[in-house]
Amino acid sequence: MDRETAIKKSLEQFEILLREQLDRVDRMKEATARAESGGPKVIGLIDGDGIGPLIMKKAEGLLRKLLKDDIDSGDIVLRKIDGLTIENRLALNKSVPEDVLEEIKKCDIILKGPTTTPKGGTMESANVTLRRELDLYANVRPVSVPEEGIDWMFFRENTEGEYVLGSRGIDFEGEMAVDFKVITDPGTERIARAAFEYAKNNGKTSVSIVTKANIMKKTDGKFSEICRRVAADYQDIKAEDWYVDIMSANLVNPNMRSKFQVFVLPNLYGDIITDEAAEIQGGVGTGGSANLGDRYAMFEAIHGTAPRMIEDGLQDYVNPMSIFKACEMMLRHMGIADKADKLQKALDKAQSPDAPKVTGFREGSKTAELVEYIYDKL
Ligand code: IPM
Ligand code: MG
Repeated sequence: MDRETAIKKSLEQFEILLREQLDRVDRMKEATARAESGGPKVIGLIDGDGIGPLIMKKAEGLLRKLLKDDIDSGDIVLRKIDGLTIENRLALNKSVPEDVLEEIKKCDIILKGPTTTPKGGTMESANVTLRRELDLYANVRPVSVPEEGIDWMFFRENTEGEYVLGSRGIDFEGEMAVDFKVITDPGTERIARAAFEYAKNNGKTSVSIVTKANIMKKTDGKFSEICRRVAADYQDIKAEDWYVDIMSANLVNPNMRSKFQVFVLPNLYGDIITDEAAEIQGGVGTGGSANLGDRYAMFEAIHGTAPRMIEDGLQDYVNPMSIFKACEMMLRHMGIADKADKLQKALDKAQSPDAPKVTGFREGSKTAELVEYIYDKL
């Protein structure tokens, strides 16, 4: 294709993207949360790829133990959802096959193992598709290191930024490539509100707004400005602007980091910073992650599929802590605070020096030893 034709085609493509995104803005402005439906709460269980089925098996066992009465009485239903495997997705060339999505939408809550994200190409990550299709706009990730006084809560915007058109950039082959970043007013307003509401309801006194608004002037500039506008409704909470580079340094500065409480960030910075934060807590395998929207909620491990572990035959050494943390967040979200507290205490104990240390290597403890330890502490 000659350059002029490529530019024309790209402009047509750009117009389509702009119209789609502005339609999304309209939908967000009109959105009213669908009323809570009565009847049993259906938790959809999705295995995912790699070590996903292994940790999900442990998660299901844990839920069946903790929720035995509710499951027996039919108030809570655990429903397995098949078909979200990389093999099936590649065969159908769909990041989330339609029939799978339909089944997922019949659930109220999803607990999901990690899914493979193909690098390059055009297939979108299943996570990104699900976050968008279920409109799970708040990615909430807690990190705590009690002995250091670290108690952080991250509110990562989960549906836009670099992600929403991440698979739909423009490539002038052999010359250049362009990707798009989209930040919308209603999309920012709702994540900012989620962060400030959390702060208000949990006795927090500060919210850090993390952007790179000095460089990404339009998009991050808007994000910061709208967060500040929302902050004006919360007079008792201090809102501070930070740039993402210095914030990533602050988090490894022991003299500084314990003063931060709640963070609100656009999608990509949230992705990166929450991995850094989880590492400070003890590794990305220890992080929990909630994806919340007004209708659906999805809980997942923060780590990937760890194909290395499968290749190296380390199936018995996978760490279930992250998916267990996700279970704890899920129970809390469902209003089952007593069971969530019970699980939280057991998981805290599992991080003490006398607990089995699962490292993902043969030198470490086995998954089963850790699970047994946790069951014992429940
Ligand atoms: C996460 C992950 C995902 C993301 C990947 C798997 C698409 O890193 O949940 O943080 O980038 O959001
Ligand atoms: Mg990530």
